Order: sequence, then structure tokens, then C-alpha cells
Amino acid sequence: MTKRKIFIACDTTKISEIKNIIKQTENSEISFGYKFGLEFLNSKNGRKFVSSLKHKITFGDYKIADIPNTCASTIKAVKDLNFNYITIHISSGLEALKAAKKVSGKTKLIGVSILTSLNNKALKEIGYKSDVKKLVYQQAKLAQKAKLDAIVCSAKEVKMVKKVFKKEIITPGIRFSSSNDDQKRVMTPKNAFAAGATSLVIGRPITKGNIKNNIKHLINHLKNDSKL
Ligand code: C5P
Repeated sequence: MTKRKIFIACDTTKISEIKNIIKQTENSEISFGYKFGLEFLNSKNGRKFVSSLKHKITFGDYKIADIPNTCASTIKAVKDLNFNYITIHISSGLEALKAAKKVSGKTKLIGVSILTSLNNKALKEIGYKSDVKKLVYQQAKLAQKAKLDAIVCSAKEVKMVKKVFKKEIITPGIRFSSSNDDQKRVMTPKNAFAAGATSLVIGRPITKGNIKNNIKHLINHLKNDSKL
């Protein structure tokens, strides 16, 4: 069984902050990975920093959403960074997912379903006719068809997604307290793992404030979880 992981969302442009996150999470009883999103990867020295990382689980959250040729070319363009995981929006369509999977090699390709910051009202505004549940279910089937290695969805959809998607399930939208920030579909770490998530993505609840204390709080919250 894959060991449960927690990916820390390294959402900053400051390398010193990333170094501190890594320092505080190294040699922990929890297996941590580091997720770099558009903010850091597009910052002046972000790419170079990622290329210097050794022996870390890395996740390039590019959230690629484009035509098949551009999706595949983008994955090839970041090959030198040796990411363990890279994301693509499932809404790019089956052909694009297949094209990306064809060139992703050892990097696990993660399909991002409906963002955890969206709810049914927001989907309606965009023009979708289905609700979150139906769309995520449909996208999970597409991710399975394209043989993706993992899927991102909210913890609220994990049970349903597991019926049709058989690999890793990664859930952002993780919160301990009542403050959800901009996230709409949230769950606590403990409940997300209990629902069947194989890994979690956690950003601000760990990176804002005292990281060391936040990690302690997380470990305490998850204690007695034998699969960590
Ligand atoms: O700070 P917070 O825990 O909300 O960060 C969540 C991270 O997960 C962010 O980096 C965000 O880009 C990412 N993410 C998400 N929802 C998705 C996919 C990725 O929040 N559906």
C-alpha cells in the first residue's frame, strides 16, 4: 500500500520561506512532499530552486489546461525538473490527457477535477449545467479512461471517486478550523484520510503562522493513524 503523504503547498515567492518549510518538515514521522504551484514556479528563482532539490517528493502543480499538443509539450519542457507529480486539468479533455500521459514517463500525472474553491453556485455562474458531484464523477471516469496516475478532488467526493478511479486520490481543501479562506469544499485531515484520500494537500493551515507548532498540531490531530 502507498504510504499516506501530506503535500505542503509552498505558495510563496520567497525561497527562504520554502527552505524553512522543508526544514520544519524533514525527518518527521509523517511523509511530507512539497507542492510548487504557479506562484513559485513563475517567480524569478523558483525553477532553479526546484531543480536543486534532492531526495524530496516534489509536485509541480502546473494545472495544465490546453490543447493536446501544448499539454504534451509543456510536460516535456519541465522534464529536467524530475517532478514526482505534475497536474493537468481533466477539463482539458480525453485527447489532451492521453497526449500528456504518453510523454509523462516516470512523473505521475494527476488529473485535477473541479477546484475545491468552487461550489454549485460558482459552477452555475461559469455555465455548467451539472452540480459538483456529477461533474467530479464524470471527470474521475475520464481520468481512469486516460490511465492517469492520480486525481485531485475534494475529500467530500472521495468515496464516490473511488468507485470509478482506482489509483491515488489527493485532496486539497483541508482545514482544521472554521476559517476556510477561499476554499468551499473542505474537510479535516483526519476525516479526509478516513474518507479514503491517499494524500492530502495542505497550504495555509501549515504555512501561515508558526510552522513548527502547526506541524505539531497536525501530528497530534492524526495520531493513532496506523497508515501514516
Ligand atoms: O492554503 P490551502 O490549503 O487552501 O492550499 C491549497 C493548495 O492546493 C493551493 O496551492 C491550491 O492551488 C491547491 N489546489 C486546490 N484545489 C484544487 C487543486 C489544487 O486548492 N482543486
